[in-house]
Amino acid sequence: MSTCETVFAPYAAFIPSFSAFCTAVQTPRTCCLRVNTLRTTPEVVQALLVGQGYDVTPSPIAAELLLVDNLSHPGRLREALLGYYHPQALTSALVSLILAPQPGELVCDLCAAPGSKTSHLAQLMHNQGVIVANEPVYERLSMLEYNLKHLGISNVVTTRYTGQNFPLRCKFARVLVDAPCSGEGTYRWDTQGRVRHARRALGTLDDLPRLQKQLFVRGFDVLAPGGSLIYATCTYNPAENEAVVQALLEQRPATLQPITLPVPHSPGLPQWKEHTYDARMQHCWRLYPHQTGSVGFFVASIRA
Ligand SMILES: C[S@@+](CC[C@H](N)C(=O)[O-])C[C@H]1O[C@@H](n2cnc3c(N)ncnc32)[C@H](O)[C@@H]1O
Repeated sequence: MSTCETVFAPYAAFIPSFSAFCTAVQTPRTCCLRVNTLRTTPEVVQALLVGQGYDVTPSPIAAELLLVDNLSHPGRLREALLGYYHPQALTSALVSLILAPQPGELVCDLCAAPGSKTSHLAQLMHNQGVIVANEPVYERLSMLEYNLKHLGISNVVTTRYTGQNFPLRCKFARVLVDAPCSGEGTYRWDTQGRVRHARRALGTLDDLPRLQKQLFVRGFDVLAPGGSLIYATCTYNPAENEAVVQALLEQRPATLQPITLPVPHSPGLPQWKEHTYDARMQHCWRLYPHQTGSVGFFVASIRA
């Protein structure tokens, strides 16, 4: 049987408080709901859920995020069907908050389905401006379009390019590269010690780092001067994170910026195995489940 300790043993050297990390990935997570402020308010959703007996706590990070202790199937409530909220991991929602798009801007979401972050970006923009949400996988494009319609989003156009070949003719004020990844940050173990994870089989990598580097470079190449670019994954693997950022810094005149939200995190790694990374890597965020109570994420913030 695979345990957290064995699966993540290679990362024990850099994950702080490794035993607390392993405890966290074996502990059921508090449900996080992102209130769809295009349809309603956090106060209304909180009152509706409290009225049904749920324990609801607003997240100190952002008013639209509600933490609900005893809710195991958030997609089944009437409020979900009404599009009042979108169930979304807290750390996933942080990504759009870090990109911080403004109403009226032109924004590109290069790897968009199923649209959790696209729809969050749209609500942060008050449905004003334009988001180009790109997703090459046909079935996933349908999920994206369904979710956007369900949530009342009206400022998104969808495209179906492979992100690394996304056209260069348009420049965007903000770009999100929420890259396909090994998804290690979503791994959980249940009370019987069985591993539960959303994506690939444990240890499967395909040739993800190569694709991730291409996507990140293309994201930079469609950025307007002075624009902001976020690279995010839900994995811990430095080959998919710091090594990808390093490749961009070596290929393009990109500036790595500090991220300033008040969220517990660890900095990007200075080195991994035989690789030494740029000192600015400390500006990246590694988000671990025992620090945030949510899924693992990596975020790098770039300015052109
Ligand atoms: C991590 S998921 C994105 C999640 C999404 N941003 C959200 O918040 O709902 C990565 C997405 O990238 C898509 N993808 C795979 N290969 C791609 C490529 N070459 N270019 C762009 N997107 C790709 C996958 O189909 C998947 O939908």
